Amino acid sequence: MSQAQLDNPGTYLPDDTMQMFRAAWELPAQCAAAWRIGRDAPVPPAKPYRNIVVTGLGGSAIGGDLLRVFTAGRLEIPVIVNRDYRLPRFVDDATLVFAVSYSGNTEETLSAYDDARGRGAAVVALTTGGRLGERARRDMVPLITIPAGTAPRAATGYLFLPTLAVLERLGLLDGMDAEVDGLVRHLEVLRRRYGPDAPSARNPAKQLAHNLYERLPVIWGVTGTTEVAAQRWKGQINENAKAPAYWNAFPELNHNEIVGFEQPVGVLRGIWLVVLRDPEDHPRVNLRVEITRSFVGTAAGMSEFTASGPTRLARLYSLIYLGDYTSLYLAVLYGTDPGPVRVIDRLKAELGAKSPA
Ligand code: F6R
Repeated sequence: MSQAQLDNPGTYLPDDTMQMFRAAWELPAQCAAAWRIGRDAPVPPAKPYRNIVVTGLGGSAIGGDLLRVFTAGRLEIPVIVNRDYRLPRFVDDATLVFAVSYSGNTEETLSAYDDARGRGAAVVALTTGGRLGERARRDMVPLITIPAGTAPRAATGYLFLPTLAVLERLGLLDGMDAEVDGLVRHLEVLRRRYGPDAPSARNPAKQLAHNLYERLPVIWGVTGTTEVAAQRWKGQINENAKAPAYWNAFPELNHNEIVGFEQPVGVLRGIWLVVLRDPEDHPRVNLRVEITRSFVGTAAGMSEFTASGPTRLARLYSLIYLGDYTSLYLAVLYGTDPGPVRVIDRLKAELGAKSPA
């Protein structure tokens, strides 16, 4: 598909059977709605929690990473993201656990929910329903119900912002109204830049999709800022474009990954690097990025993007939004319907047939 075709949404939007483009366009309204849901949601008892765990998988876990990175400089207790059946040993009655599953039927999350309950942790369930919803109702656990009807990865606003609202209502955070307001306004600006009606000539998401087409995307973020966006880009390219992608973060990648750009040359020439930066990155990390450029010349090319926005939350999401749109355009270039993830569905069905959660 040529550049001109990406600029003709009428040729591909009808093939987007799950309306992923529409969900991306509506993300600002979703964030505003998610914030309202969180502000009205039931909350667990306000007590001196020693740690917070967000347990979930895939599209339901990335909100946990957003929470972890966003709160790292604000909260005095750690936020840990758990992507497994079991919770870490430290979880006890001084832990606040968010069990997050869009469908409510992800077996790892159901198992972790039971684990949290067994250890006496304060649990909040965040879901559209499913078995997680049933268990939360049965156990009289605070249940935050979000709207169903899209793919989990298209519901990051719903899967993240209510957790932030709960922490604010417990007195652990403040000033979040302004953060969310800045986020919504900024996403409204960005969608006009990244959306299908913005022509390729001035649409970075479309331009980047062309660079990534028939190449192996390697996304580099920065620990503590853009690492979440890098991980999200990888997942979105996998699930929307049905293509491989890998991610890593500075400064860790400076201690191993950069050594691996000597061979095999045939593979390296197929890599397109994307570096995601934030104005708050450590000055030494900025220097690292500059120096690193000289070590990766075997890759086909490199693009760089810096987070933008009036608030920290807006900056975190700005790069996620760019990656979401880029992955959708990449799906178009590959002639793939971005919505369905048949491989995940099949895996879950096969597992479910063997050991019901
Ligand atoms: C599908 C997607 C997946 C799911 C994951 C967990 O759009 O993003 O990564 O999020 O398989 O399922 P849920 O979110 O239903 O717990």
